[in-house]
Amino acid sequence: MRSNENYLPYIATAALLTLAIFISFQVFILHEPARITAAETYHNNAAVAAGKDLYTKNCATCHGLDGEGSDAPALNSRQFLNTTDDGTIFSVVSSGVPNTEMPAWNQSHGGPLTDEDIKNVVAFIRSWQPTAPEITVTVRAGDASKGAAIFNGTCIVCHGQNGKGTSRAPALNDQSRLHQFNDSWYRDTIMNGRPSKGMPTWGTVLSPEQVNDLLALIDQWRNAPPSQPQPAATPTPAVAPLPTPTAAITQGSAVTATGGTAASGNIARPSNPGGGGPALSLVGNVTAGSQVYAEQCKRCHGAAGQGGINNPGSNDGTIPPLNPIDDTLVNADPKVFAYNIDLFIEHGSTPSGTNPKETMPAWGDQHKLTPQQIADVIAYVISLNKK
Ligand code: HEC
Ligand code: HEC
Ligand code: HEC
Repeated sequence: MRSNENYLPYIATAALLTLAIFISFQVFILHEPARITAAETYHNNAAVAAGKDLYTKNCATCHGLDGEGSDAPALNSRQFLNTTDDGTIFSVVSSGVPNTEMPAWNQSHGGPLTDEDIKNVVAFIRSWQPTAPEITVTVRAGDASKGAAIFNGTCIVCHGQNGKGTSRAPALNDQSRLHQFNDSWYRDTIMNGRPSKGMPTWGTVLSPEQVNDLLALIDQWRNAPPSQPQPAATPTPAVAPLPTPTAAITQGSAVTATGGTAASGNIARPSNPGGGGPALSLVGNVTAGSQVYAEQCKRCHGAAGQGGINNPGSNDGTIPPLNPIDDTLVNADPKVFAYNIDLFIEHGSTPSGTNPKETMPAWGDQHKLTPQQIADVIAYVISLNKK
């Protein structure tokens, strides 16, 4: 007869093994977050190092080696870093700040850097945050006269002279709205826009300082003495000190001394809405532009912009010549002239008429031309009109 087998050692061993596996798994789990953090830190350190390199080469001349600011605002500032997320820094750096020294850096805006490069630069800037000093002047307080210049360069096209509104957009200089909403509502509305209703998103185009300038202008409208009549013959009292010639943007010639609001009807504007594009912060090359013109524009606007191409179904009957170009687009300030042309090239336009055969394509919105090509062709069109 066989003696009873003793399973106890096996059972004990199995139990111990199970326990051991269980414990080592717990230990592994406990270490996992640390391991992930270590990997992330490693990755982030690599990004910061790469970003530091790019920053030193490209940004330090204006913003200072440690972001302390010199010719350009300080970036190493607690307030700036605490209130500005990575996405916002990324887009400001990508698109630059039009009409300032701050260039567009992203290749998608004609600059030298890739998305990855800019993410690395942002990681480097972000790495300052834990020790960033309080620099209260970073985002300087708004300046209403700078705000008026921005308004006249960027918003007037839709919101009209002195914010009185046009057929494209409502009046902003409207006492009941101005008193109904506060600065933070206006900030959000300007930054986010209402793209589905034709109000562009400005948060990625304007710097925080420029938005502050606009808020100062809006505040000036809000606090204008309520009974003050708007004397028709006095040009725009609220925005008297206009520091840049941009202020003269086409509206200047069209708004008559009688202050008529019908002015917007006289101005050649594309039928599609949207503001100036990234090409405006680039320098155009006339020779390269003549090439783009010959390839893309000549079939509709004629050799050297002379026009004469029929457009059945449009009221004009022909596609407009660009040489000479419609004189409501011309401006003595080349920046304004370029802006007026750019609106058509960016967003396209449908001529009035029952069923125009040819329409102006949206070269920018549809990415048919790069910002640099648009800058080049604008330079070419301006050169054609230089007599
Ligand atoms: C030629 C000078 C110049 C260079 C080079 C330059 N910047 Fe700027 N930058 C400016 C100026 C001027 C402004 C302020 C624009 C304004 O008035 O809103 C600015 C604004 C900014 C802002 C917004 C800051 C704020 O408080 O609104 C950021 C972020 C920025 N620059 C990052 C960079 C980075 C990153 C680089 C390098 C890739 C760079 N800049 C290179 C001149 C420069
Ligand atoms: C392409 C035309 C266009 C441009 C350019 C434009 N806007 Fe607008 N904006 C609109 C339209 C359209 C609306 C009304 C949207 C709606 O119906 O909700 C609007 C609404 C607004 C409102 C909300 C007004 C209210 O009382 O509800 C503010 C504030 C505003 N815009 C500010 C600006 C500023 C500042 C600029 C320049 C940086 C600007 N807009 C440039 C088209 C434009
Ligand atoms: C398929 C034909 C076509 C092509 C190609 C074309 N355009 Fe146009 N363009 C038009 C039409 C049509 C208009 C008139 C739009 C309107 O009246 O709203 C126009 C208007 C313009 C205007 C405004 C002029 C004015 O008097 O209203 C400019 C500037 C312009 N085009 C530039 C260009 C440039 C630069 C190119 C090449 C990148 C180009 N166009 C290619 C058809 C074309």
